Amino acid sequence: MLKMAIIGAGTWGESHASIYAEHPQAECVAICDKNRERADAFAAKHRLAHTYYDYREMLEKCDCDAVAIVTPDFLHTDMAIACAQAGKHILIEKPLATRREDVLAIVDAVEKHGVRAMVDLHNRWNPPFNLVKQMVASGEYGEAKTAYFRLNDALWVATDMLSWTAKSSILWFLGSHSLDTMSWIIGSLPEEVFAYKRTGKLASLGIDTVDAYQTAIRYRSGAIAQMENSWITPNGNSNVNDFKFDLVLDKGKFDIDASSHNLLQLTTENTFYTPDVLVKNSVFGRCNGFAFESIRSFVDKMASGEPFHVSLREAANVSLAILAIMESAESGKPVRTQLIEQ
Ligand SMILES: NC(=O)c1ccc[n+]([C@@H]2O[C@H](COP(=O)([O-])OP(=O)(O)OC[C@H]3O[C@@H](n4cnc5c(N)ncnc54)[C@H](O)[C@@H]3O)[C@@H](O)[C@H]2O)c1
Repeated sequence: MLKMAIIGAGTWGESHASIYAEHPQAECVAICDKNRERADAFAAKHRLAHTYYDYREMLEKCDCDAVAIVTPDFLHTDMAIACAQAGKHILIEKPLATRREDVLAIVDAVEKHGVRAMVDLHNRWNPPFNLVKQMVASGEYGEAKTAYFRLNDALWVATDMLSWTAKSSILWFLGSHSLDTMSWIIGSLPEEVFAYKRTGKLASLGIDTVDAYQTAIRYRSGAIAQMENSWITPNGNSNVNDFKFDLVLDKGKFDIDASSHNLLQLTTENTFYTPDVLVKNSVFGRCNGFAFESIRSFVDKMASGEPFHVSLREAANVSLAILAIMESAESGKPVRTQLIEQ
């Protein structure tokens, strides 16, 4: 039985607790959140034996095998390093980290202390994307030539859902997923990026962060791609995400619409909505959707000893490439990525 502890009793901490409760090979033994009220409520709701308000105290006292780090994007580093030093395996929410020195320090700590670590880049478990990966990897359709990836959030994610939007970036929050999935499917690493950014909408609402990025990417394989990430889609969009992917290969073309698809639509007197059937829902009370599958897979792979479906170094390179995109958007010039060996 894998004894899990969670740091972060927020929106996504809930997803982690649900899947550990359901998985036959996992047990959640503790929650840690610096917000005492939230930590106490979370422990009561999920019937957890131990509650902590300081993760260092938790690492000293808690008898757990692995820790899920589910705190805001820019707070993963010290926690991940402390977990590695304490000999705990780690599931880290995406992005791994948001500064080059932090990315390298986590990789170093994990490798030095011999713990296992996975970053929750869960779009690899998204069924249409996973199927495209399998079909591309079969070689039947030849080499990937061009790709387009749009992954945008509705405005309310930036204004209402997250309390720390201004301290992060849509590139960290969603771009980590789109870049990871696209590179994984193409089967290559981004070599050079050139990005434009647009600001103004969120700033006018008092949230000081970039609205949108448009990024051109040249892969080592020669494939070229365009990636769009924003969090200013009007709230009336029929899905929280605006989520599209196209891929052209030598002998084939794939198109995915993962948001405003025709699979399920709800129309009422005042609204038109595309309910989520892929990301995170429940079927007869069981956790369903790719956002749960990645967390489930962490437990599976801890139990079996097999490698994770996302390696730490792959996730590190996602963060490092995003830093190059940000640098390009700042400088107005193409930037070569400085990636680490996979
Ligand atoms: N919200 C989503 O849809 C979603 C989806 C996938 C992944 N994620 C990722 O999960 C992570 C958490 O996101 P969230 O939406 O749950 O955020 P959140 O703000 O809802 O929750 C974060 C929690 O971390 C706690 N925290 C902050 N600093 C802490 C500290 N030093 N010690 C202990 N607890 C601390 C906060 O009090 C808060 O309860 C992020 O990296 C995010 O990118 C979020």
